[in-house]
Amino acid sequence: MADARTFSCFSVGSIAGTYEEIYVPRIFIPWARLLLDRAALRPGEAVLDIATGPGTVARIAAEQVGPRGRVVGADFSEAMIAIAKGKPGLTSAAPVEYIVSPAAPLTVEEETFDVVTCQQGLQFFPDRAAAVREMYRALKPGGRVIAAVWREIALQPSFAALDAALRESLPADQAEPYGAPFRWPSAEALKVGFTDQGFTGVSITELRHPLTYEGGIAQAIATLAASPVASTIAALDAETATRLRSAAARHLAPLVDGGQVRTQMVSNLVTATKGV
Ligand SMILES: C[S@@+](CC[C@H](N)C(=O)[O-])C[C@H]1O[C@@H](n2cnc3c(N)ncnc32)[C@H](O)[C@@H]1O
Repeated sequence: MADARTFSCFSVGSIAGTYEEIYVPRIFIPWARLLLDRAALRPGEAVLDIATGPGTVARIAAEQVGPRGRVVGADFSEAMIAIAKGKPGLTSAAPVEYIVSPAAPLTVEEETFDVVTCQQGLQFFPDRAAAVREMYRALKPGGRVIAAVWREIALQPSFAALDAALRESLPADQAEPYGAPFRWPSAEALKVGFTDQGFTGVSITELRHPLTYEGGIAQAIATLAASPVASTIAALDAETATRLRSAAARHLAPLVDGGQVRTQMVSNLVTATKGV
């Protein structure tokens, strides 16, 4: 059950806190399970989760590899790592070690991991080629990588609705960063990005999964506080904030069903292997 803070548009706490409260249970945990289905982790394996955020994939991976396994979660955001470290311990799971590290250079030993995962991180990295090279370096020969990258925003209806509202209500340069998570959608670019760094058996799968904001339009709007425009939103004057809320409600209205926002998301998933 969401609390009052979740529904008080534009007044929620930190980006990492809002991300954890609204996005993680509704988007990132279900998608982490889909990603890990494809990883087919085995007991005792060592897993590195890059751009781990609040440890979403890392924690599920730890349960899947079990106490004989090892999991490292890396993220350059100290706020995200603090949330990950603050989560309750897991039983019958591998220990999870969290490190503050950019995707490149990555502060891990080479040829250490059986599996590298990266859920919705690649599109944010300033040097994607270097990041994929680091994934390769961290893997043991024969190791595998599984990474997820959203497809374009037009295929993610609630995000497209909020994007339209932002573009309608704010100057273009202030609205523009909102779409950043959805701007590296080409399956071909993903494939080339991994093949170029030496990976073999590179395969791209498109997956879709439902998304429900049971708190309805107010909860969907509250996600803006965990978006790339969070600081812009926090600084809006009352009149612009009201205009934005009403534009967002109008654009989200077609997705409302029984008071809930019901939609879906679409992502590309890349799987590849480091040859022996
Ligand atoms: C959309 S979140 C995904 C987090 C996590 N994988 C999950 O599924 O919940 C993107 C994450 O990428 C991290 N990130 C962005 N740029 C990064 C970089 N250059 N190096 C490491 N992490 C980065 C952010 O701090 C954030 O935690």
